[in-house]
Amino acid sequence: MAIPRHLAIIMDGNGRWAENHHLPRVSGHRRGVETVQSIVRSCRELGIGYLTLYAFSSENWGRPEEEVGALMGLLGQFLKSEMETMLARGIRLRVIGETRRLPAPIFHVLDEAVERTAGNREMVLTLALSYGARNELVRAARALAERVAAGVLAADSIDDETFASALDTAEIPDPDLLIRTSGEMRISNFLLWQLAYTELYFTETLWPDFDDDQLQLALKEYGRRQRRFGLTAAQIHGKDREVPH
Ligand code: FPP
Repeated sequence: MAIPRHLAIIMDGNGRWAENHHLPRVSGHRRGVETVQSIVRSCRELGIGYLTLYAFSSENWGRPEEEVGALMGLLGQFLKSEMETMLARGIRLRVIGETRRLPAPIFHVLDEAVERTAGNREMVLTLALSYGARNELVRAARALAERVAAGVLAADSIDDETFASALDTAEIPDPDLLIRTSGEMRISNFLLWQLAYTELYFTETLWPDFDDDQLQLALKEYGRRQRRFGLTAAQIHGKDREVPH
């Protein structure tokens, strides 16, 4: 089975799962967190180096206050309950997004978790929180423009690499595979720059039902894909190691 170096997931369908079970939406999110816990463990065991989860989008701030509060509460509980696992299994936590917008207690728990796991080397777990890709791109452009204005960066020296290093995902390789659950077939403002050559996998399964078998199916499908990065199949076969990234 092909193991992607970097797997990114848009975890969708908690609300519909709850509705299907005649439960409040927050029950769907609670089950969603259980799926997160098991998928993190599975990815770590499979040797996936980077796992990035879209946990809360910039647009999610617009949801009813009660649901936003519940999601923040679940995030805080998740961070507390996962700390031992992350430390025991060598998982480093990172966050991308406008995390300053998060409630102060959550921001501090996150900050502490990122710091305490900074030395871990087995897997990088990145949570996208208060994240929107357009916002990330705008912030990167602004940061580069400020450096140009300050005279420490020449405008014509800005290339793909410089730009990528100004993004929240600096030092994280681009995703090899993106999974989106719940049957929606869109990117929803997630990692717009980074997904340029990523294989996309969509499944009807709702996130709370996404288990190890579902993960295996996605990885099997990924193994069947031929990644060409804009080159021809013959070039790929002949130049295996020179594929641009
Ligand atoms: C989509 O379901 C999911 C979210 C908005 C957030 C995902 C959050 C979790 C899995 C829980 C918190 C995460 C962590 C890492 C602790 P939806 O509500 O959009 O579902 P719907 O489209 O069926 O309404």
